[in-house]
Amino acid sequence: MSRSIEVLLAPPWPADLVRGAHVAVVDVLRASTTIAVALANGAAGVIPVTEPGDAIALGHRLGRDRVLFCGERNAERIDGFDLDNSPASFTPEAIAGKTLIMTTTNGTRALRAVATAASVRTAALVNRTALADALAHEEGAIVIVCAGDADGFALEDAIGAGALVDTLLTLIGEVELKDGARAAALLYRSVAGRLAEAVASSDHAQSLSRKGFARDVTRCAALDTVNVVPTLRDGILVVTPAASPV
Ligand code: MLT
Repeated sequence: MSRSIEVLLAPPWPADLVRGAHVAVVDVLRASTTIAVALANGAAGVIPVTEPGDAIALGHRLGRDRVLFCGERNAERIDGFDLDNSPASFTPEAIAGKTLIMTTTNGTRALRAVATAASVRTAALVNRTALADALAHEEGAIVIVCAGDADGFALEDAIGAGALVDTLLTLIGEVELKDGARAAALLYRSVAGRLAEAVASSDHAQSLSRKGFARDVTRCAALDTVNVVPTLRDGILVVTPAASPV
């Protein structure tokens, strides 16, 4: 089967492009970074849901002592929730062995929107190479979905998608690169030498910094600090074993 890579740079994400594809959802600030950190630090799994009420209802069905309610609205912890959406909150002490039920403004919404994909993973700058290794083993179409911000384009997600495309191109021989993927790769290469600065210049990074989360922005802009591939299995993001070299 011929291989292709596309990047959907902003919502809405056309269902016909996602159907049957191997999808990576990118929300660099901060959901996909936080999910990678949480799974690396021993969370049993992360269940993405759309609304806080969905999280509470599901948590009580699964058993309150087994779960933690996590996520944000306007970047802050939701009333009654255990944790916010800051990767710094997801320490091994706080989360090991727990199932995390998470709702965020854009990231978990994007995850819920790609249900017809052949496979769904989450990608961030922090696990870029681990993700690229896993995707490089798949046949067929790879579609990278940028979660975006408030129904539009988010610079940091396009940079994250471009970083993934750039590494995929070093791992996959023959591949058809679609325009969205080409644009993301060009963007990433233009800022690769000053990645932290480029991520920090984005609208959402500036808003996070104003709210006291500047350290999160720096952490989310770091490449390859986490070696996990969060993969959706029956509605739960879990860690899959690292792929063997291509
Ligand atoms: C989102 O899903 O919109 C983000 O992760 C928001 C945030 O920075 O917490």
